[in-house]
Amino acid sequence: MKKIIGIWLVIGGLLFAQTFQVGSHGVVVSASKLASDVGVEIMQKGGNAVDAAIAVGFALAVVYPPAGNIGGGGFMVVRTPDGDVTTFDFREKAPRKAHRDMYLDKNGKPIENLSLRGALASGVPGSVAGYACAHEKFSTLDWRDLLMPAVELARAGYPVSYFIHTGLKYRQDRMSECDATRNMFYPNGRVPEIGEILVLTDLANTLERIANKGWREFYQSKTAKEIARSIQAAGGIISEWDLKHYEAVEREPVHFTYRGYDIFSMAPPSSGGVCLGQILKTVEHFPLSQYGFQSALAMQIVTEAERRAYANRAHFLGDPDFYDVPVDYLISEALAAELAAAIDLEKATPSQAVSHSLYPESKETTHFSVLDKEGWAVSVTTTLNGSYGSGFVAGKTGILMNNEMDDFSIKPGYPNMFGLIGAAANAIQPKKRMLSSMTPTIVTKSDSLMWILGTPGGGTIITSVAQVLMNLIDFDMTLVQAVDAPRFHHQWLPDVVSVEKYGFSPDVIRMLEQKGYCFEYQTAIGDVNAIAVDWENDRFIGVPDRRRQSAASAW
Ligand code: DON
Repeated sequence: MKKIIGIWLVIGGLLFAQTFQVGSHGVVVSASKLASDVGVEIMQKGGNAVDAAIAVGFALAVVYPPAGNIGGGGFMVVRTPDGDVTTFDFREKAPRKAHRDMYLDKNGKPIENLSLRGALASGVPGSVAGYACAHEKFSTLDWRDLLMPAVELARAGYPVSYFIHTGLKYRQDRMSECDATRNMFYPNGRVPEIGEILVLTDLANTLERIANKGWREFYQSKTAKEIARSIQAAGGIISEWDLKHYEAVEREPVHFTYRGYDIFSMAPPSSGGVCLGQILKTVEHFPLSQYGFQSALAMQIVTEAERRAYANRAHFLGDPDFYDVPVDYLISEALAAELAAAIDLEKATPSQAVSHSLYPESKETTHFSVLDKEGWAVSVTTTLNGSYGSGFVAGKTGILMNNEMDDFSIKPGYPNMFGLIGAAANAIQPKKRMLSSMTPTIVTKSDSLMWILGTPGGGTIITSVAQVLMNLIDFDMTLVQAVDAPRFHHQWLPDVVSVEKYGFSPDVIRMLEQKGYCFEYQTAIGDVNAIAVDWENDRFIGVPDRRRQSAASAW
């Protein structure tokens, strides 16, 4: 009986998941209908969008385990009703015992999968501290109220969606290597069916302890001890000291303008805001709307801007607490003009011919957007890095750990799981944060809120956000059209344009091939969960991406 109800819930959920939602009190767009509903309920109880975002974050750790987490990290951008914008950085940090060559063998060669799977792949998790930081500064409800919906979902269980079923099926062998992971996600040793109720009791107990005792429980008490014990027993290096000393940081956003819009996004240790700024400011030199949406010329300009931004990313970007990142230079008008002038409209610039600019002197994440009627706007991207992170559940905590250490440059020029390369700026150092591409973003025009957006997708995150913004601003699309529109991506190396299959005219592709561009095809790029404000009608429109299982809830 339970199973049949579950199947209908999933089918209903999937049908519902495909549509945008309109509300005038509050709206949440996330990777799961259950989590979006939690956010709306929190606002109905008197919470603001920050309260709702925190509750959604904890709920996703239960109902969207491939990326929702408390064993990972992320970034939050908040705009207050007064128009002030700030950000919270809760990116994971390298443990104290980490060192530059920890994933290399004695010949200096990267050891396959060491930074991706198992106990050594995790950075010190930041999500709980990040949500606590935002709660302390902006919340109206009690901390406990924000965690209890997640506790209840984990304890009662929830119906497994098609997306989660297929993900668990695909990874069964790998994830079964860790006993705690197998027991948690493969009850009785088998993949839970679509619609079957998945109960996560250990995680419910951990979340309830954190709810009752406060966020420090995660970093200093029973949970911290069990995380450190289980990780070290499996050959990892995260210690109680690492957890006790983890701190989330409030940082200034990256801010720039694009064709009259103000764009606020995440500063380093994410490369998101900086690269988004550099791409948009470079393409601002060309009349994209005159060229036409998906015209060969518009695609070429965007590709060339992306190529140059990712070359700069590889060289300049890293944790600003360890490495001096020249943010102002990288998003300056002067650099954008120089980059734009170097684009040859007759032919592709080979990536070997593009190196980083000369500075004078010196695959599962999730995004959710929340907005309330008072004008609190929240944009959060959070991740375990790979789908289901390292596949390692920390002992009896029910916490799935991240494999974020792979986002460091484990060797100069050696690509990470997204094919991104790096250098000294992003080399491993104890207590350093690994570079990210996460790009939670808020856009205003003449001080009025316009859009909240972000996406998963590893290296493709920045280009997906950039293209949705160009769709809105240059091509005057509605938010639904802008999110639906096919996406393409170039990241300097490898020198190839990834395009969504069936999304582009073969004639345009042929024209670009003749100019020297190479293409590869992907089924889907990104999962943009966004909100627009409809000022004329005084309402909000929550737009989930249709590429995965995302859903909006509105009130
Ligand atoms: O921080 C980053 O850039 C990556 N860890 C994000 C991973 C990701 O988006 C995977 N999703 N598909």
